[in-house]
Amino acid sequence: MPSVTDLHYVSLAVPDLAAERRFFGETWGLIEVAEQDGKVYFAAEGMPHPYVIVLRENEERMTDLIGFSAESREDVDALFEQVKASGSKIISEPGPADGPAGGYAFRFFDPDGRAMEVISDTTPREFRELDKGEAIPIGISHVVFHSPDHKGLANWFENALGFRLSDWIGEFMVFLRCNKAHHRLAILPGPPALNHIAFDVSSVDEMMRGLARMHRNDVELSWGPGRHTAGNNTFSYFLTPNGNAVEYTSDLEEVDEETWEVTHYEATPDITDQWGTGRIITGNVPHAEMSPDKALWQVPA
Ligand SMILES: [Fe+2]
Repeated sequence: MPSVTDLHYVSLAVPDLAAERRFFGETWGLIEVAEQDGKVYFAAEGMPHPYVIVLRENEERMTDLIGFSAESREDVDALFEQVKASGSKIISEPGPADGPAGGYAFRFFDPDGRAMEVISDTTPREFRELDKGEAIPIGISHVVFHSPDHKGLANWFENALGFRLSDWIGEFMVFLRCNKAHHRLAILPGPPALNHIAFDVSSVDEMMRGLARMHRNDVELSWGPGRHTAGNNTFSYFLTPNGNAVEYTSDLEEVDEETWEVTHYEATPDITDQWGTGRIITGNVPHAEMSPDKALWQVPA
């Protein structure tokens, strides 16, 4: 069964582009790599993806597009058939991709109406190994969505895009992978919206240094620092100037496909915060979007 192989990028529309651009490019530690058709593209230093965040200006904050990588054009074609067979509404059939790195892609809506792209053959960028203590993203790590039918949506990601189930927390949060990383996607109940975008940093050390840099730049810590249970990754959450939730994470567990067994963790109050530090410092109040994304069922600009 064909499967996507990675989370490629998240494309966001924001009212204050200048502030968001400064945040991602200067404070958060991505690199601005291109500007084209009113969109600004950012890459991460430690990853070959040509871009991981795309920004454009818009009256409303919304999530334009989520991009997933496929291995080859053949896989893009096979995934297109699989997505079509799932009953999804197609935006565009496989063909030349938009954006500064070329490629071959198709677009569609997931069952909640989020616009998505599956893309292969983009021109990879040169990347480098980060220095010890360099508290900037290696790459994009995962996205978390809210869905009114989080179980149904998880099934859809398994059947349409080839995701595999990694773990559950209670009946409440489901973690899905498309490569050896424990999760590239997780889903929570709630109105259809983006909960957060996470970026991998090298270790817990860089996560803490990144947290301090956010503090020095007056970016408020919204939750953390701490270590999650499912995935065993560390976390600190912040809000961008336009209110997008972003996470520095490290040490995300790797999965051996042959031997992995799904754990259903009990949903205890400390389940998402092993160390208990998040509860002491910010309180156990993870960011939650309580209204539907403004971009649902809209063909991305
Ligand atoms: Fe996360």
